[in-house]
Amino acid sequence: MQGVILHGGQGTRLRPLTHTGPKQLIKIAGKPVSQWVLEQLRDSGIHDIIIILGDNNPNKVVEYYGDGSSFGVNITYVYQGKARGLADAVYKVKDLITDDKFLVYLGDNIVPYDRFPSFLSFKGSASILLAKVDNPNRFGVAVIKDGKVVKLVEKPKEKISDLALVGVYAFTKEIFDVIENLKPSWRGELEITDAIQGLIDRGREVDYRIIDGWWKDTGTPKDILEANSFLLDRYAERKIEGEVRESSIDGRVVIEEGALVENSTIRGPAFIGKGSKIVNSYIGPFTSIGDNCEVKNSEIEYSVILDNVKVDGVSMMDSLIGNNSNVVKGKRWVKLIIGENSRVEI
Ligand code: G1P
Repeated sequence: MQGVILHGGQGTRLRPLTHTGPKQLIKIAGKPVSQWVLEQLRDSGIHDIIIILGDNNPNKVVEYYGDGSSFGVNITYVYQGKARGLADAVYKVKDLITDDKFLVYLGDNIVPYDRFPSFLSFKGSASILLAKVDNPNRFGVAVIKDGKVVKLVEKPKEKISDLALVGVYAFTKEIFDVIENLKPSWRGELEITDAIQGLIDRGREVDYRIIDGWWKDTGTPKDILEANSFLLDRYAERKIEGEVRESSIDGRVVIEEGALVENSTIRGPAFIGKGSKIVNSYIGPFTSIGDNCEVKNSEIEYSVILDNVKVDGVSMMDSLIGNNSNVVKGKRWVKLIIGENSRVEI
């Protein structure tokens, strides 16, 4: 069984974090978003993974995952080149699919669904995962009538359904024939939603499952923070491999190898990455600190701090800090060097 992970897109709503790499590599609760996806597929028995790369530093993805062996999977990479939409990306695997059916998962989505093998035993030409949402105009939606998918619309202007496509699809190879004849949408992309509509137009059956509960398309900083708190809440288990001196570590806290926590309080669920130093500080619940960070004299809550970040003398919450940043309290003036599309509240 093959699983295809889409790893393209410009990630404009996550700039400046995405100026140096794809959004799917942003680490949440200690792992890139796409690693959560890859491990979820692996744990459901899907070991043959195809990653479709976009044009935003794709080499970083290959460097991180390699041939997949250290993640317990076998990875083949395909370059999409210039982004022309999700259907165009899926078409790129046409000659690589060996089984009748295959799974496609958008690598920036976190969908806690653990029945992929049964999802792949669908009837008809495709199957989609759906979830009820309050803002259907941000997604592709499906209209269900008498237990059947009758219509799909990408980013509907009028409210025709509140069931959004959550970024996990199962297809037969027939989808490739439809994509060959697909026209670009108003946003200039070959939409996967239109391709599935194409199957319905041919009189084919499209199966569906509706998922209950939380899922996330991690497109914005707010989404990243929400995904971080969900993933920490669900998966963090107390594991202290680093060194702890004169500190209080409460609840489900991960302190990775080589990390040092001194004269501090860490309240779980929380994650402290490899080689990071936390000194004279309070790290509150739902916070992830990346690798090789230095946090001194600070309080941090409900935040994601990526790798090699220095924080000194600052109280922060609801914050997302990119790799190699420094956040340091000045004596009197605020001194800022901020990338484009940043947001600072002082
Ligand atoms: C894409 C799909 C959309 C789907 C969404 C799920 O949207 O086009 O149908 O509902 O992912 O995250 P995009 O992220 O391109 O706006």
